[in-house]
Amino acid sequence: MSAATPMRGELEPIEKASRDEIQALQLERLRWTVRHAYDNVAHYRNAFDSAGAHPDDLKTLADLAKFPFTAKDDLRRNYPFGLFAVPREQVARIHASSGTTGKPTVVGYTANDVSTWADLMARSIRAAGGRPGEVVHVAYGYGLFTGGLGAHYGAERLGCTVVPMSGGQTARQVQLIQDFKPHIIMVTPSYSLAIADEFERQGLDPRECSLRVGLFGAEPWTNAMREAIEDRFGISAIDLYGLSEVIGPGVSCECIETKDGLHIWEDHFYPEIVDPATGEVLPDGERGELVFTSLTKEASPVIRYRTRDLTRLLPGTARSMRRMEKVTGRTDDMMIIRGVNVFPSQIEELILKDSHLSPHYVLEISRQNHLDALDVVVEQRADVGHYDEITRKACADKLSHAVKSMIGVTVTVRVVDVGEVERSIGKAVRIIDLRPKE
Ligand code: DLL
Repeated sequence: MSAATPMRGELEPIEKASRDEIQALQLERLRWTVRHAYDNVAHYRNAFDSAGAHPDDLKTLADLAKFPFTAKDDLRRNYPFGLFAVPREQVARIHASSGTTGKPTVVGYTANDVSTWADLMARSIRAAGGRPGEVVHVAYGYGLFTGGLGAHYGAERLGCTVVPMSGGQTARQVQLIQDFKPHIIMVTPSYSLAIADEFERQGLDPRECSLRVGLFGAEPWTNAMREAIEDRFGISAIDLYGLSEVIGPGVSCECIETKDGLHIWEDHFYPEIVDPATGEVLPDGERGELVFTSLTKEASPVIRYRTRDLTRLLPGTARSMRRMEKVTGRTDDMMIIRGVNVFPSQIEELILKDSHLSPHYVLEISRQNHLDALDVVVEQRADVGHYDEITRKACADKLSHAVKSMIGVTVTVRVVDVGEVERSIGKAVRIIDLRPKE
C-alpha cells in the first residue's frame, strides 16, 4: 500500500482540502505539465508555437484557455509513440484503444504513472464503499483496454482480494461469483445485465448473491439503467468514469454516500467544459463537452484533450473536488433523424420505463427515400413469458408513441424475443448504421 492510500474508510487529506488548496496545487502541477509537454513532445511544441502560447504564459488556471486543444486525431497522427514525453525505455506499460476506424490511440505509462493510477483507482473503489479485505470480481476486459488492469491494480492497492475474471465466459462469471462470494463487481453496465440473465438461466436469483456494490462504467448508462441494475442484483451501483487518453478508469467516480455525480480527481486531472461547436470555455454548471488536462502524467501528458463526452461541472458535495454530471451522451453518438437530435440514452430511459421491455436494445439507422429512419429493436422482458404478435405490437406502439411525444422523432419499434439482441461482453454497441456509405 502506498503512503497516499489511507487505511479503511478514511479520506486522503486532499479529498478534504479547501478549494484554494486544490487550485494552488492544480496551478503548480499545470505549469509543470505544460512545460513537460512543450520540452519533450514535438507535437505540443509545434501546436503551442502555432497558437502563440508559451508555458511561461501560464500564470493562472484560466490561462490554460490560451493553449490549443488535443484531439483523438492528434494521437492517431503520432502513432504509435510520437506523443510520449519520456524515452521509450522509461515506459513501463502501454495501453491502446481500438476505435472503430483508423489506427488505435496509444498511451504510455511510466512506473510512477502506473502507481498514480493504482492510487486513484483505489480512491475510487473506496469512494464506492469498498474496503481493504473485500473480494473484488473484475469483469472488465484485460489487455490493451484499460478497464481490467486499471480496476485490478486499484483493488490490489486498496488491499482487496482480486479475482481477475475479465469479460466473457458468462456461465463461469456466475459460477465464480457463487463460489468466491465477492463483495464488489467491476463491469460494464450492459455486461452486468447479461450476467444477471445468466444467473436466472441457471435458476439462481442474482439478488441472493454476495455482491453489495458495483463500479460500472466504460459506456454511457442512464439513471434508469442504474435502477434496473440495482434492482436485479440488490446492490448499490456506482458510476466510474475515465478514458484511456487521460489515464483509464479512475478519472472520476461517484461516492456511495451521495451518488450525485462523479467527483473528478482534480489533483491529477484538470477539467474544463467547452462549447462543442466553438471551443469557448463555459462556466461551471453549463452543459458542454468535457476537456481534460493531465496534471501529473509523465509518459503521456495530455493538454486540453477533447473527450467528446457531454456533461457539466458541479460543485463538490461529499468531497471538495468538483463533480461531473453523469455522462449520458457523446458528441459522436448524437443521431440527427429528420432534423431532430437524438441520443441513445433518451431512448434507453423510455425503454426502461416500460415494464414489458428489457434493457437489451439496439438502434438501427437506415435510409429510406433519401431520409434517415430510426428503428428501435428491443427485447421483451424474459420473466413475463413469451409475447404473442398482438402484445408485441401493442408494446411497440406504446414505445414509439412515447418517443414521438417525449423526443419529437418518429421511430419504428420492433419488440423481439429474448436473446435476439446481441450481447456484448464489454462496451455495448447501441447504434447500428445501415446507411449506404457515401
Ligand atoms: O472506457 C475506461 C474505463 C474503463 C472507464 C472501465 C470506466 C470503467 P476508453 O475505452 O478509452 O476507456 O473509453 C472512454 O468511454 O470517453 C466515454 O465516452 C465512455 N465512458 C467511460 N466511462 C463512462 C461512464 C474506458 N461512466 C470513453 N459513463 C469515454 C459514460 C463512459 N461514459
